[in-house]
This record gives sequence, structure tokens and C-alpha cells, in this order.
Amino acid sequence: MTEEIEQKDIDNFLKIFGGHILFQTLYAAVEFDLFTKLSEHKKLDISKITKLLNIEKQPARILMLGLVSSGILQRDTEGFYSNTPAAEMALTTHSPRNVISYVKLQYHVMYKGMFHFVEALKTYKNVGLQEFPGNEPTLYQRLGHTPEIKQIFQDAMHELSIHANQDLANHLDLSSTRFLIDVGGGDGTNIIELARKFSHLQAAVFDLPTVCPITAKKINESGLGDRLSAIPGNCFEDNFPKGADCFLFSHFCTIWSEAKNKLLFRKAYEALPKGGKVVIFNMMQENDETGPLSTALGSPYFLTIATGEGMLYTWSEYEKWLSDSGFGEIKTFRLQQDHGAIIGTKL
Ligand SMILES: C[S@@+](CC[C@H](N)C(=O)[O-])C[C@H]1O[C@@H](n2cnc3c(N)ncnc32)[C@H](O)[C@@H]1O
Repeated sequence: MTEEIEQKDIDNFLKIFGGHILFQTLYAAVEFDLFTKLSEHKKLDISKITKLLNIEKQPARILMLGLVSSGILQRDTEGFYSNTPAAEMALTTHSPRNVISYVKLQYHVMYKGMFHFVEALKTYKNVGLQEFPGNEPTLYQRLGHTPEIKQIFQDAMHELSIHANQDLANHLDLSSTRFLIDVGGGDGTNIIELARKFSHLQAAVFDLPTVCPITAKKINESGLGDRLSAIPGNCFEDNFPKGADCFLFSHFCTIWSEAKNKLLFRKAYEALPKGGKVVIFNMMQENDETGPLSTALGSPYFLTIATGEGMLYTWSEYEKWLSDSGFGEIKTFRLQQDHGAIIGTKL
């Protein structure tokens, strides 16, 4: 006997089956800044939308049909369109919690690169990198050739980190930490947040030379230049900067293989004084390997595009690697947005 398939399961399947089309619909609306326009006018009918977007009526209807049927926007019985609360928060330029740069990053990087997923699964290589100019082995190095996408990437990382890391700052006790190094710290969003919370703290981002000018600019804008800095380097090829009593790996361990993560933790262990700490901050995969969905969305990107070797690992994998690298007193914290922090101490 065949089981009845529920409509919600069919709809769920259709959203996956046509995910690429719905994504292009979302991206188009972001590109036209439609959500901000809707927010400013509260609600708009199709003729107003047509005028504001400067497109013909039928293309506008097609766009709005996709946005309404997928639940991003709502349409009332009189034909007026408005933002859902989620669209208002995530997609309007004036919202402090918007993820507009992340949508743009998906368009410029993930969407193009993921075309090569099957080949990446077969070869265990980031073959999607062929979509980006240059011949370096990682996306991070190749972004140096496309300044516009490099900036979108850093802005998207900022969006990802800004809220989750406020939560981190509340759970992480850095009252006895003097100098924190944020390995692969990007534009400095994390250290700026931590330095605001801990007024004695000195901290530095240790990132690729192509990224450090963006970091330095952000630090300068924050007014915390007396305590924060950007140190250019490659965490595998160069020594870790001296003098740190805490190393933070934020959205960083997911990029690399198990072997490279262990190498980084061992390098941190060697560089730390007794009592020094290592902090891993990331979206964490559950130990039963069923999700959350954010880890399932991120992992193929690390395989197919970023490096060909990373994924969103489980809590227990990180805990084991830290302990294998010599760290003790390992503590775990569940944070917002599927994030977690794992802290180890050099005893
Ligand atoms: C996913 S982003 C995370 C940025 C930041 N930590 C955050 O939480 O938003 C990864 C960062 O690692 C940097 N990175 C990649 N390879 C690196 C390497 N070999 N050495 C140092 N930094 C590296 C990239 O330039 C990028 O800024």
C-alpha cells in the first residue's frame, strides 16, 4: 500500500527542485532593492512596483508571483504587496540585521561554483574554483583578483558574525585575557565586538595580506586603533604572532581538513603560555549528523568552492581534536543561530 503524500511534502520538494529559480527571484528583488522600497511605502500595487523598478508589467508580475508563492512577500485581497516580517528584517537596507551582502555573495560565489558539485563529490576537490580568476588553490586567495567580490565576501562575513558574536562576547569570559589573536579574523568584526565588551583587551586579526587593508580600515572606523591591529600572514606558512594568551578561530575551522585543524590547534598550543585559551566559534553540526540545515547548506560550499577539504564539523569532532592537541578543561556553549563555542585551556 502506498502512503499518501501530504501537500506540504510536495511543496517542500518543489522548493528544493526549483531552488535555483527561487534564489534568482530573491536575488533579483535584492538587486532592485524592492524590499526597501516596499518598506518605505508600507504596501504597493503592481502598477507602482512596475514604475519603481522601471520594468514592464508582465516581468514584474512574474517576479512578484515568485516572491509571494515562496512566502518571502505577502499580497492582500486588494492586490497590494508588502514585506513579511522576515523580509523586513533580513532584506531591507535600513535593517541592522539585514543579510543583503550574503545574498549577493550567494549569487556571485556559491551559485556559480555549486554547478560543479557532482564533480567535487567524485574527485574530493574544489573544482568549482574554476569559476574564479587566478590559479591559487583556495577561494580566499583568488578573491584577491576581484576586489568587488572580495568586499562583498567580507561584508557578508560581517553580517554573519555581527549578531552571533555579540552572543559570543556575552558567554566568553576574557577578563583575564591580555592579547587575543583572531586567526583568519577577516574584517575585524569579532575583535571590535570583543574589545568593546572587554575594555582592557588588546587583540589582532591574523589574516591574508590581501584582507588586512579592509581590516585596518574597519578598526580605524571603530576608534579602537590603540588596542586593535591587523597582522598580515598565512596561518599555515607563517609563525603565529607572538605574545597571545588566547587564539580565536571564528568561522575558520570549517574551511580546513581534520589534519589541518589539528595542525592549527597544535600550533596554537605551542604558542600559548600555560593557562592560555583557544576558542572555536562556529555553526556546529549535531553529533547525530542530522543537521541543522545551516550546516547542510555550508558544507558543500567548503568542498566544492572554498578549499575542497572543509565542512561544518560536529561538536564532538572539535572536542576530540582539541584534546588530541593537548588542551584540557574543554567547555562547550550553545549560542544563537546554530552557533556554538568550544573553549580549551593549556593546563
Ligand atoms: C569564512 S572567513 C571568516 C572571517 C571571520 N573569522 C568571521 O568570523 O567572520 C575566513 C577568513 O579566513 C581568511 N583566511 C583564509 N585562509 C587563510 C590563511 N591561510 N591564513 C590566514 N587567514 C586565512 C580569509 O581571508 C577570511 O577572512
